Amino acid sequence: MKNRKDEHIKYALEHRSEYNSFDDVELIHSSIPKYNLDEIDLSTNFASHDFEFPFFINAITGGSENAKKINQKLAKIASACNLLFVTGSYSAALKNSNDDSFQIVKKENPNLKLATNIGIDKDYTAGITAIKALNPLFLQVHVNLMQELIMPEGSRNFSEWENNLKEFVQNIKIPVILKEVGFGMTEDTIKQGSEIGIKTFDISGRGGTSFAFIENRRRENSLDYLNNWGQTTVSCLLNLKNYVDKVEIIASGGVKNPLDMIKCLVLGAKAVGISRTILELVVKYDVEKVIKIVESWKNECKMIMCALNAKNIQELRNVKYVLYGKTLEFSIQKI
Ligand code: FNR
Repeated sequence: MKNRKDEHIKYALEHRSEYNSFDDVELIHSSIPKYNLDEIDLSTNFASHDFEFPFFINAITGGSENAKKINQKLAKIASACNLLFVTGSYSAALKNSNDDSFQIVKKENPNLKLATNIGIDKDYTAGITAIKALNPLFLQVHVNLMQELIMPEGSRNFSEWENNLKEFVQNIKIPVILKEVGFGMTEDTIKQGSEIGIKTFDISGRGGTSFAFIENRRRENSLDYLNNWGQTTVSCLLNLKNYVDKVEIIASGGVKNPLDMIKCLVLGAKAVGISRTILELVVKYDVEKVIKIVESWKNECKMIMCALNAKNIQELRNVKYVLYGKTLEFSIQKI
């Protein structure tokens, strides 16, 4: 029998976004430096926790043998590099009491900085079960409307979603992050979420993994004209410039390298989530090689910050930039 989680991994790796909004952002550098490389501080804070590095492994998987192997590798890398690791949706474990593809990561890496994820279609009690099992730093609640609509076996009734979110906020004792899955979030969603009591949003925009593409690959009659649904990560961040001090914005979606990460931070993100890029690395290389790559990312982030005269994440917000192409067109329109 085909496993949905395995299909997600397979089709996520098959897809390559044809448009990258990060290429539309040019950072203005500085020729006379203020700081030495070893003065640069990458630390950040969100969801009431301090983190040594501003990027993390964002929700990917769990719930199959292959997913378990991937989680084991990702957790080893996160643990060795002192990165935050967020599991994929815990709902896969709720359906199967024998599943250990989530728990294993903590068992094998007791000091792992771990968080987990659940869908907004679930009742808050599902979140409580996940929290009891994993003792995470926070819970991501994901919204994925177009994915559900395209998914052959997806939800068709959405009237409970907003109320479910309210109940998550009221009943979950750890920070709750509202998270997209690659379609992006703009002002109206942030306002609605804030009114409900959400303080941290992962705007996960278009430009990397497309769950429209993934679900279309799983359908008989593909609706592939919807594959580019949603707003890009950079467009979302530009749209939310006035919110970066009111709520915590986390960026993800299409982040490929440390320059993309720094661009997210310049645009006001408190941290940057990476899914497809690290998934591709763990599928291609052994754990030791990926650890080396991630360690290099840390140094590369410092190099770029040094060349921008930014000593820390806060100072990155003073960096000037120019926009090109579709991203510029988006930014000049009031939506
Ligand atoms: C995901 N993503 C995801 N998100 C979520 O909230 N819960 C989940 O269970 C999953 N599952 C999942 C599986 C696979 C195979 C991928 C690649 C991604 C979405 C992910 O967290 C992120 O929001 C998007 O993938 C956009 O980031 P990238 O992939 O472009 O870096």
